[in-house]
Amino acid sequence: MALAEFLESLNALAAQARDAFASADSADALEAARIAFLGAKSGHLRQVQKGLGKVDKADKPAAGKRFNEVKVLVESEFEQAQQRLAGEGGGREEASDRFDVTLPGETLRIGHLHPITQTIREMKDIMGRLGFTAVEGPEIEDDWHNFEALNIPLSHPARDPLENFYLASAAKASGENPLLLRSQTSTVQIRVMEQQVAETAAGESPPPVRIISLGRVYRPDTADATHYPMFHQIEGLLVDRGVTMADLKSVLRLFCQSYFGGEEVHVRFRPSFFPFTEPSVEVDMNWRDGQGNEGWMEMGGAGMVDPNVLRAVGYDPEEVTGFAFGLGVERICMRQHGITDIRALYQNDVRFLSQF
Ligand code: PHE
Repeated sequence: MALAEFLESLNALAAQARDAFASADSADALEAARIAFLGAKSGHLRQVQKGLGKVDKADKPAAGKRFNEVKVLVESEFEQAQQRLAGEGGGREEASDRFDVTLPGETLRIGHLHPITQTIREMKDIMGRLGFTAVEGPEIEDDWHNFEALNIPLSHPARDPLENFYLASAAKASGENPLLLRSQTSTVQIRVMEQQVAETAAGESPPPVRIISLGRVYRPDTADATHYPMFHQIEGLLVDRGVTMADLKSVLRLFCQSYFGGEEVHVRFRPSFFPFTEPSVEVDMNWRDGQGNEGWMEMGGAGMVDPNVLRAVGYDPEEVTGFAFGLGVERICMRQHGITDIRALYQNDVRFLSQF
């Protein structure tokens, strides 16, 4: 074979290989082109190399040299094509290869409200529908609002330093009216009535009151399954002309029925004593769960506002009467969710809290 003939077929092949590599648009297509042209056993270049033997003897060195040059060129063109695919198209293809549409999506972990906060919001909602406005009072209280105005005399055991969190330095500073962390939300009754009276023009009667107050209270109890030094109360107060115990019981029953759902919820009163109500009762609620269990649960205290309390804040007990109640929020929340240890609510263990 003449040199010219050999070189012609070699050059034609080099051009074909260049086109094939340049137009390969995927790693697979490029690999196929590589095997076709550069394949060690039967690639086109290998075939041409075999033709070297038939070239005229004198032309063999020139033909061999040219063959090697073209081979290096074709190989480098292959490498360039490989880099091109890895750079742009290759990356895209790899990513789409990896995308598995059957994989479950990433679930977002969304936070939620603490069970006590949920209970409090629900209670506010229910009492709001019954016409009670939610008000707040300070957690640091003075002796007047926590005891004195609530008809709790100086000698009363409820004032014992062992039963309360007095603020020692504040006690000294304020002399007669020491500060403490409030031990009950009944303090808010006093604050609301005082404010109503203060805003009433001389000679007029202060307006009716219909409020609830929900918040933290503090007592130095040792923590166990049913006690915690901080807990929440829902306090209700209704003062108007002609308010009776029957109104108190109706409101409490409606509240419990709305909270727990269903007509099957009943409320019972047991005679009791609180300095700021007369008569006073303990409130129990009858509950049933899905498994046929039922029982009575203590919810808190209630009663008709003591005339002394009305007088202390400037209401005329001859003109108006009122009822008040104070229920434990934790108890109601625990009953609803079947929680048996109050401490679990405040250990902030997400495994526990995320269940509600
Ligand atoms: N304040 C009382 C307590 O903490 C509950 C109560 C509120 C009782 C209102 C009567 C009226 O135990």
